[in-house]
Amino acid sequence: MTQKRVLTGITTTGTPHLGNYLGAIKPAVRASQDASLSSYFFLADFHALIKCHDPERVARSTREIAATWLALGLDTDNATFYRQSDIPEIPELTWILTCLCSKGLMNRSHAYKASVDANRDAGNQDLDDGVTMGLFSYPVLMAADILMFNAKHIPVGKDQIQHIEMARDIAGRFNHTFADLFVMPEPMIDDPVIIPGLDGRKMSKSYDNTIPLFCSEKELLSLIKQIKTDSRLPGEPKDADSSTLFELYSLFASDQETAEFRSKFEQGIGWGDAKLELFESLNGYLREPRLRYNELMQDLNSVEVLLNKGAEKAREYSVPFMREIREATGIRPLNTTLVGAAKSAPKKKEKSAEQLANAEAGRRRGILMQLKPLLDQVAGAEDKAAEAAQLIATKRAEVDSLKKKAQQKAQNELEILLEELAPYLV
Ligand code: TRP
Repeated sequence: MTQKRVLTGITTTGTPHLGNYLGAIKPAVRASQDASLSSYFFLADFHALIKCHDPERVARSTREIAATWLALGLDTDNATFYRQSDIPEIPELTWILTCLCSKGLMNRSHAYKASVDANRDAGNQDLDDGVTMGLFSYPVLMAADILMFNAKHIPVGKDQIQHIEMARDIAGRFNHTFADLFVMPEPMIDDPVIIPGLDGRKMSKSYDNTIPLFCSEKELLSLIKQIKTDSRLPGEPKDADSSTLFELYSLFASDQETAEFRSKFEQGIGWGDAKLELFESLNGYLREPRLRYNELMQDLNSVEVLLNKGAEKAREYSVPFMREIREATGIRPLNTTLVGAAKSAPKKKEKSAEQLANAEAGRRRGILMQLKPLLDQVAGAEDKAAEAAQLIATKRAEVDSLKKKAQQKAQNELEILLEELAPYLV
């Protein structure tokens, strides 16, 4: 049975809240229990250091996220649940990929551009003010997270799609330059459920309007009491559809309970009573996992053991794969040249038409990326036809002058140039 390989990371900077639960944790726990999937879920603690230099916060968040996912029933036998920093092959691969990734690709990253824009808006002379190399090259680390395990299906939010595309570009470049080792990853985007926060805006750490998943009962009640309502009095009918209270209720209750709650709104339930009902319902939903969470937080050794087991499982894949990757780049034991040459490329399994098409698309993208400056040169030339013809002639001469492997590479490039420049080459 070939299982679909799903992989996602959770940056360890915050405390899990109801929004994280519905958006990411609940679907991941479900996937972890699905025998047709091979899921890789990891605590992205190296990513945490990009934005957060408060060691206590990173450590606390790592504990809380690990205990939360486990308390909610993550199946660590079926899925692989690990801490990024326990897998030394990830930073190792990051460096190799960094050496293949063009700086221009990183210049286009949304996360980096947002910082540059903020500096520009603030009138700051230094547009890179506050930008670390970690922030700048963060998409390479993320590409390594994904490519290290050759995962194809990457559940992420919309804001992360660009990073998956960058991972594909980088993988294509590696496959083209060294050996066809990487699967092209694809974003898996669920219909986003927008979970409202205390103030009615989207629940988010950055708005400071979250309800932590496993806060105490007392805190849960006090937070629910802070939820914004309108000024309608008890007895006045209320509009369920514009109410944050109602929306939160419906996200956790059954259809029948939700319908009953709606009719109470129509009958004019007071806001105070509606808040109590929301509390009862949410608290009922969270009571058991909260108990398990509190137990785990009191017994972090057992969490550590599970994470170590996950790292071991993950490394069963990453250690031998890293050996192949190093080998492909020429980082090899001194005595393996001849053996390596005789053995040549590792035997590949039969690939499906889709895999072949994906590999082909990735290969093309890799080549295109390298050819981009040349194509830009043609596009910018006054006499595009002459420039294109000149470029093709030069490339042809290059193909003729080269030997075997290098020739094949140049030939591939020539073919793509011929396709790309076809409009000019009449
Ligand atoms: N950058 C992701 C986020 O902020 C987290 C993440 C890190 C991730 N590595 C990943 C997600 C690899 C998917 C795959 O949400």
